[in-house]
Amino acid sequence: MILNVENISKSYASHRSGDRAVLSGLSLQVEEGESVAIVGPSGSGKTTLLNIIGTLDHPDEGRVLFKGKDVTHFSSRQLAAFRNREIGFVFQQHHLFPQCTLLENVLMPTIPLKDSRLKAESIHRGQELLKRIGIWEQRHQKPGELSGGECQRAAVVRALANGPGLLLADEPTGALDQKNSGLLAELLFELNRTEGVTLILVTHDLRLAARAGRVFLLENGRLVRRP
Ligand SMILES: Nc1ncnc2c1ncn2[C@@H]1O[C@H](COP(=O)(O)OP(=O)(O)O)[C@@H](O)[C@H]1O
Ligand SMILES: [Mg+2]
Repeated sequence: MILNVENISKSYASHRSGDRAVLSGLSLQVEEGESVAIVGPSGSGKTTLLNIIGTLDHPDEGRVLFKGKDVTHFSSRQLAAFRNREIGFVFQQHHLFPQCTLLENVLMPTIPLKDSRLKAESIHRGQELLKRIGIWEQRHQKPGELSGGECQRAAVVRALANGPGLLLADEPTGALDQKNSGLLAELLFELNRTEGVTLILVTHDLRLAARAGRVFLLENGRLVRRP
């Protein structure tokens, strides 16, 4: 099992109505190589859940185990290294650096790698993925010179450059038109199949979600399995 989310709860203080529970006793187990989609209305806590899984946020209660290791108690230094190596993030916006080329953006996560073999592997992987998804020709261009779909595909390559075990995608097609949205989804599921990266995809798009191995609805702070 790559991910074991055990009974997590998270509330936010709200001055109008006291604490508001966003996640309450939520659990999720994910096997290596699986694809899981999470759907739910806006405000239901999908981003909060993904951020906790990706260790960008902390649960009030419960634990997150990654390959059996409790990451909820890692130090900030351990977390930074863990995230860089093991977790790939893709958001609704691509968050590429506008002053850097696509290639520089994609290879950004390889900069902190100290092990020279790992670093070489990651650089190679980033370059191969750019070729595979058809934006190698554009590698010396800057994000502002490319379409939203191309930038988002580059963001996926950046997320995978270091060969993470887990790819977390938070409404990655939300800012794309229908055609590019379809292409990006295709890419995510293909990489899940061929690279073996475990995929957790948050989406509004039920058709897209249906392509995942398992689909959950986030409702009342918990995940409910959809048939
Ligand atoms: N940092 C925060 N401080 C206070 N409330 C927050 C914070 N982040 C999220 N929330 C609230 O938690 C709820 C869930 O938000 P979110 O996880 O972003 O939902 P979703 O991604 O499903 O739209 C919302 O009501 C949101 O307003
Ligand atoms: Mg969200």
